[in-house]
Amino acid sequence: MAAAVRNGVPGIIGECGGNTSCATCHVYVGEDFMPLVGPPGDLEDDMLDLAVSDRRPTSRLSCQISVTEALDGLVVETPKEQP
Ligand code: FES
Repeated sequence: MAAAVRNGVPGIIGECGGNTSCATCHVYVGEDFMPLVGPPGDLEDDMLDLAVSDRRPTSRLSCQISVTEALDGLVVETPKEQP
């Protein structure tokens, strides 16, 4: 989320600044990367249920994804709607 906001990526708003309380950073992670990114935590899981856009098995809040070298080349899709 932080990298996307700093670089003006459309569709990732990050309204709460990464505090897991807005879901405006919702993304769909590329399936190949899901084993590396991992599942959402409990709070994130609850927030994803409240996201405006449809939830998918690959949904994550991008502010909760820790960027590591293992994620080099990570592909995410942004939802059609973000609040
Ligand atoms: S920036 Fe608000 S939940 Fe991610």
